[in-house]
Amino acid sequence: MRLLTRSAGRLSRHRRKPLAGLAVLLMALLITGGAYSMFSPGAQAEPTSTTDEDIQAGRELFLVGCSTCHGANGEGIPTVGGTQYGPSLIDVGAASVDFQVGTGRMPLAQPGQQAIRKPVIYDDDEIRQLAAYVDSLGTGPSIPDESAYTLPGDLTEEERDDAISRGGQIFLTNCTACHNFDGSGGAMPRGGFAPTLRGVESRYIYEALLTGPQAMPTFSDGNLTPDEKRDVIAYLKKTEETPGYGGSGLGNLGPVSEGLFAWLVGIGGLVGFAIWIAAHTTRSSKTKPSTSKAPVNLPSGAPATPESGASA
Ligand code: HEC
Ligand code: HEC
Repeated sequence: MRLLTRSAGRLSRHRRKPLAGLAVLLMALLITGGAYSMFSPGAQAEPTSTTDEDIQAGRELFLVGCSTCHGANGEGIPTVGGTQYGPSLIDVGAASVDFQVGTGRMPLAQPGQQAIRKPVIYDDDEIRQLAAYVDSLGTGPSIPDESAYTLPGDLTEEERDDAISRGGQIFLTNCTACHNFDGSGGAMPRGGFAPTLRGVESRYIYEALLTGPQAMPTFSDGNLTPDEKRDVIAYLKKTEETPGYGGSGLGNLGPVSEGLFAWLVGIGGLVGFAIWIAAHTTRSSKTKPSTSKAPVNLPSGAPATPESGASA
């Protein structure tokens, strides 16, 4: 901006017309603004712009790829055992579809297993259409706008650091129980697991919080305000940038694993060394009586050991 005004000022000096500089500046702004809206994909990809065609196209995709488990109208299919092939998708909202299909969790290959990240099958347009269709079945959280999960660009360095450390506090109290201190994931009851949070796109983090996939609780806006969600995401993105500071991280599990390491390897090593020393000092006194006893203990038919043969 300063560059623009400066060059505009220089131009106006050349022409000696004060208004010309302003005109050049306005023109430049218009052109850059126009170019920006032309080339920035974010402007067109507004999630609010779903049309009836999207919903119709989404329904067709749904019938082919999802209805075997979720039912022809997304009502869910119960199994005999009382569990479900696929749960009802009425009221799960577009955010849930965007998360589940966008991370490759859906379509699930086999019911009964934990849905995990897989290569994504549908392209962005198809995911938007599927989301539009499921969204039309009921109410539910919609796909968040980018401003919801990124810190505003006009924050000072200090405000940004504050947001990140607030996010760190929220993470420690709400997420570490399942996702581990450094977000590397961990085991869950009944064979499940909480995945690593490293490398997960901000949008999917926000959607996971909104929709609470599988064993993860839902963090509604009442539990965690939109600002708090945004701060957690900022914190997680920051930890991805932070390198490990030398040595083996021991899984970054915190004091427990590090203490365990000290016990097993440190103290264990010392104990082993002490035993080794003790074994070496007593051996000389043990070997003498054993040579004289050996022939006495041998059964008559047993082959003589080289030791007893030498003494005979
Ligand atoms: C083989 C069966 C199967 C298929 C096929 C399948 N799903 Fe699912 N889906 C499930 C099961 C089981 C769950 C619940 C457990 C889970 O979340 O992993 C689920 C959960 C979901 C959820 C989360 C619901 C919630 O409560 O937030 C969404 C959204 C979803 N599926 C969408 C889809 C879409 C869209 C497709 C098609 C592209 C699809 N599924 C295909 C079985 C299936
Ligand atoms: C009770 C345990 C639990 C808590 C607490 C929890 N999560 Fe989860 N989280 C899970 C499980 C289990 C999954 C896997 C769900 C799946 O595979 O569908 C998951 C999945 C996720 C994912 C999706 C990762 C991916 O690979 O796409 C994100 C992001 C996430 N959690 C973020 C968070 C954040 C941030 C918090 C804290 C505010 C949190 N979780 C709290 C259990 C938990």
